[in-house]
Formats: sequence, C-alpha cells, structure tokens
Amino acid sequence: MKIQLKQFDVLQSTNVTAVAFAKEGAPEGTVIVAERQEGGRGRMHRVWSSPKGGLWFTIILRPQIDPQFVAQVTLLAGVAVVRALRKLYATEEIMIKWPNDLLLNGKKVCGILSEMQLNENGSIDYAIVGIGVNVDLNPQAFPEDLRNTAASLNASFGKNYTCTAVLDNILQEFASLYRDWLKEGAQVILEPWKKLNCTLNRRVFVKDNDEVIFSGEVVAINEAGAIIVRNEEGESQSFDFGEISIRY
Ligand code: BTN
Repeated sequence: MKIQLKQFDVLQSTNVTAVAFAKEGAPEGTVIVAERQEGGRGRMHRVWSSPKGGLWFTIILRPQIDPQFVAQVTLLAGVAVVRALRKLYATEEIMIKWPNDLLLNGKKVCGILSEMQLNENGSIDYAIVGIGVNVDLNPQAFPEDLRNTAASLNASFGKNYTCTAVLDNILQEFASLYRDWLKEGAQVILEPWKKLNCTLNRRVFVKDNDEVIFSGEVVAINEAGAIIVRNEEGESQSFDFGEISIRY
C-alpha cells in the first residue's frame, strides 16, 4: 500500500471527503487528514468532537477479498493503532473495547468508524477507515459529556507528540498489518486483538441505541468481528453491531 497524504485545515468530516475521493477513483492508500472537523461523525450517528489538536484521518482501501470478511478491517485498525500508540507512549495500558474503542484507564482516546461500498457485481469497490485520536487536546476543554469518558494522550503521558508524528507511526503499523492480513488472513488480526482487548471474559450489558438488549459474559469473538455473549441461563447470542458497557 503506497501512502498518499491529502491534508486539509478544516473539513466537515474526513470520512465524507474520503468517500468522495474513493468515488472518483482515488487509489488504495490515499489518506485524508484534517486539522479539525466541523461535522465529525461517530458511531450510532453520534457527533464526534474534533477540535484542533486531535488527529482526524481516513484511509481509503480497496481489498480484493470476499466482502464477508471486510468487517475485519475495523479490528485490524484497532490492533494497528493500539500497537503504534503503545510503542510511542511506552505504555501497555491502552486497550481495545469491542468493537473499536481504544481506552486508557477506561477513558476513550480513539474511535474508529469504517464504511464500505460494493460494486454492482458484489465485489468491494472501496472500504474507508476513519480514525480519531485524542493526541493533544486540553482535557479541561472537553465538552461536558466527554469530561468523564475521554482522555487526551499527551496530557495523560506528559508528552508533546505532534499529530503528524502519531499519524506516521499509525500508518506504518497499519500498512504492515494490512499487508500481512491480505497474505495470511484473519489469524494475523484475531489473536493479537484478543490479547489487546479488555472485553473478552467480561460481564457486559449489550446496548442498542442506549437500550440494554442483552446481558452476560463475552465468551468469544468470531471471524466477522462479532462477539458471542452468554447469559446466566446459558443462552448465547452473537452481536455484530451495537455497544457494550462493561459491568464491574
Ligand atoms: C466512534 O464513535 O467511536 C467513532 C469515531 C470516529 C471518528 C473519526 S475522526 C476521523 C473520521 N472522520 C469522521 O467524521 N469520523 C472519523
């Protein structure tokens, strides 16, 4: 994958711009970066606060694989970003919470939002992976609703890394893991994901639109990135979307 950076001062959302580039034929490896976003998007149609000081970017991919496996790209991104951040900040405390939140001591430092588009013939046209990392934000300036749930990396570790340095490290990890995944398949992601996550074997509430729809223990994650949750009656259900809160 040859990385081609497209840098902007401000965008509505790097995901939206990435889709426009992808539709015009931008090659795999095109990366859209913005210093700030005015309409940053989160999962579940949420707003993603994206002021200057954070790293907001989207990678365009065109994997020639069976579309049923494309959801693995989100897990791949989680693993690549955790590896890069753990190395750079010299920490083992950053973990993945299913499906794709990166947490530091329970507070979110990164979110990932992927989308994909198929061709008329059912093959993958493009996949985009949008990644937001709270690199150098002032925790005091977080909007009220994020104050207890989000953290900023530089402030947490007493470092001064630029967003560019963090981006370079993430893209290196991403490109190398992506190459291995295309060659060797799910195993290069699933095993590392299991080691880096804080979700497996935990008791959780599964939520859809803030409503609890199931609760139990996360007993497995499958190749499609879905978690299998077993409740106290021994019934298991798999969830490939939604959100969980961990029961302590
Ligand atoms: C989440 O809800 O956890 C996902 C957040 C994803 C945010 C990133 S920032 C770069 C890219 N552009 C967007 O509008 N969203 C993603």
